[in-house]
Amino acid sequence: MAKPFEPSTLGVRAGTARSQFNEHSEALFLTSSFVFDNAKQAAGRFTGGDEGYIYSRFTNPTVTMFQDRLAALEGAEACVATASGMSAILATSMALLKTGEHVVCSNAVFGSTVTLYSTILSRFGVETTFVSPTRIEAWRRAARPNTKLLFLETPSNPLGEISDIAAIAAVAKKAGAVLAVDNALCTPALQRPLEFGADLVIHSATKYLDGQGRVLGGAVLGAKGPAMDAVFGFLRTAGPSLSPFNAWVILKGMETLELRMLAQSERALELARWLERHPCVARVFYPGLESHPQHALAKRQQRAGGAIVSFEVKGGREGAWKVIDSAKLISITGNLGDVKTTITHPATTTHGRITPEARAAAGITEGLVRVAVGLEAVEDVKADLARGLGW
Ligand SMILES: Cc1ncc(COP(=O)(O)O)c(C=O)c1O
Repeated sequence: MAKPFEPSTLGVRAGTARSQFNEHSEALFLTSSFVFDNAKQAAGRFTGGDEGYIYSRFTNPTVTMFQDRLAALEGAEACVATASGMSAILATSMALLKTGEHVVCSNAVFGSTVTLYSTILSRFGVETTFVSPTRIEAWRRAARPNTKLLFLETPSNPLGEISDIAAIAAVAKKAGAVLAVDNALCTPALQRPLEFGADLVIHSATKYLDGQGRVLGGAVLGAKGPAMDAVFGFLRTAGPSLSPFNAWVILKGMETLELRMLAQSERALELARWLERHPCVARVFYPGLESHPQHALAKRQQRAGGAIVSFEVKGGREGAWKVIDSAKLISITGNLGDVKTTITHPATTTHGRITPEARAAAGITEGLVRVAVGLEAVEDVKADLARGLGW
């Protein structure tokens, strides 16, 4: 058997399907539906006997190219693209859960994920227990006979806590539940959760897969089988679908994914080291630092530390807002995963809608600042932060 291609090659080449015009760059099929040769073919397509495109809510060649490229990078057999990262999490939940069932979720996931489980799915009789992302014993204790889904994000956002995917996959297996890992922060360029035993991988393609802050997108990946069939079934019926235009933008973004992830991680490590030495910084959270409590685990699971550096400023909210408001180069915005460095105050933005108790449990303090490091020269980023830190 031929040697499989390296990830950088897959990022550039995997999934490409040429039309009859033999275009070199992937084509954008901006069409809501597809034409059939005759009624018999239309009937065959709808019943599934005849493979081919029908309607872009669930089948579109540009979206298929995106799905196939991401599947190749994650080492997954199947991929379902969605309109956003949140709709990927919703589609997974709707596909796998029903009233009376139970979820165990890390308490350090994205704020909207907490809200989805705690206030929306709970209305449909799905109960969620939130546990520490790092205490395996807590996952074990939380699992019940009706637990169907374990959900985590590693590294977590914004504190960069690392969950041991293999250990939590073992808990899921024993409980007869599915483990879904949100891999938005690492992307397959740095971490491939399926290799550690996760059943499903979730993406907010809005982040590093696009990489340039242009469009929203998401995806669910896993082995071919009932779980992925159910995710596809939900998408086909309910329609939180990825637009072909967005799929095309993200597909092109993925061509530089590995380069960007490595370069942004390198800059993030340098910035984290600098912040660690800064007298006005109480604590730095970055898995690439030797001082990070799960540094060894991060090195086992990840190829690099990723691009999110969070730090606690002395002086609480006032100190944090001063750093943010003094930034002239860095963009004040909630998004991350861009080549442009962004800065956020998690307690009042991304995690502002969750309860103060949930925020405290997740370790989001008032002095916490999150920087999503981009591709600018790291010296310029340091100078921008130094102004507000007062050094
Ligand atoms: C880790 C993580 N997962 C999911 C999401 C949600 O993704 P989207 O904004 O594409 O819906 C985000 C958004 O910031 C995120 O950071």
